[in-house]
Amino acid sequence: MTDIASTDDAQARETLQRLWKPGCDFLGSELAILGGAMSWVSERNLVSAISNAGGFGVIACGAMSPERLEEEIVATQALTKRPFGVNLITMHPDLDALVNVCLSHNVTHIVLAGGVPTGATIRRVRDGGARAIGFAPALALGRRLIKMGIEALIIEGSEAGGHVGPVSLNVLAQEILPHVTEVPVFVAGGLGRGDAIVSYLEQGAAGAQLGTLFAASQESIAHENFKVAFRRGNARDATVSVQLDERFPVIPVRGLANAATRHFMKHQAEMLRRFQAGDIEREAAQLEIEHFWSGALRRAVVEGDVDNGSLMAGQSVGMVKEIKPVADITSMLVEQAVAALKRREGRVHPPK
Ligand SMILES: Cc1cc2nc3c(=O)[nH]c(=O)nc-3n(C[C@H](O)[C@H](O)[C@H](O)COP(=O)(O)O)c2cc1C
Repeated sequence: MTDIASTDDAQARETLQRLWKPGCDFLGSELAILGGAMSWVSERNLVSAISNAGGFGVIACGAMSPERLEEEIVATQALTKRPFGVNLITMHPDLDALVNVCLSHNVTHIVLAGGVPTGATIRRVRDGGARAIGFAPALALGRRLIKMGIEALIIEGSEAGGHVGPVSLNVLAQEILPHVTEVPVFVAGGLGRGDAIVSYLEQGAAGAQLGTLFAASQESIAHENFKVAFRRGNARDATVSVQLDERFPVIPVRGLANAATRHFMKHQAEMLRRFQAGDIEREAAQLEIEHFWSGALRRAVVEGDVDNGSLMAGQSVGMVKEIKPVADITSMLVEQAVAALKRREGRVHPPK
């Protein structure tokens, strides 16, 4: 009995290795699990913990200056000898200088986020010896990025935390995974268990990117209040910011509903009222709406103000039950993946 059980276990582990080998080979990591870059959260401690646990940590550059990014890369390298990446926002005014900082410190992978990167940026990354990763919110854009030289894609569903597109991972995966075979594709958004990761690997994904689970880990420097909010939050509490009027666009961001999200609705209503009364120009009202959230993520993550800050979180927040070390999270995901593969084997070839 034990022998059969251990053979099943070994087979399931082999199957997992085979399924995510393209992702592991591309990243140079033991597990094809990326720690999604999270502004204020994905810094030296969390990034090195993810890489040291066998995954692939990614520094969130956000609005950092080239000097500040350099400091963070060097500090991360002091904490891990394993590979990690850097996520750069393509509209950063110093993008070229940020790429150069990554290259001069031998960062192996650069994730180009927040818009479509130019061919020149992709070339700069590749010519400097790093791998270029991009986001594909639709098949056509994924194809375009591959033509431009992108070497791997992340498809992030609307279940994810932070800035989101309109389409769920379930649908994006069906739209993209069967058709993109030239480069590895990593799935993101709402992932909280190894079973789900296996199902996407079986559809052709090379690996997965998770944010919310790692934001709530022990090594995450996020404020205790932020982590407690994550532990208490249910999937349905992680909602997308609502736009009140089509004339005043709102960037969709998913996070835990709190006093700030309710206040944001009132703020939009007030701007709309003032605009309609002729008290404020349209551009000024739009700016007021955009400025509402400035500094809000920092307020929640760093200062722990979970009422007035932004609690960006994916629907996966419902699967955060306790604050665990990163290595426990990655091994939990692997064990769930293995168990799912064993269950499936039992269903397909039931014991005689
Ligand atoms: C608090 C928070 C901040 C984030 N900040 C960024 C960011 O700065 N850049 C980025 O590309 N993605 C950002 N994301 C998205 C993550 O990298 C990742 O793709 C996402 O969290 C995956 O979905 P999940 O949270 O359900 O695991 C953020 C997500 C969270 C939860």
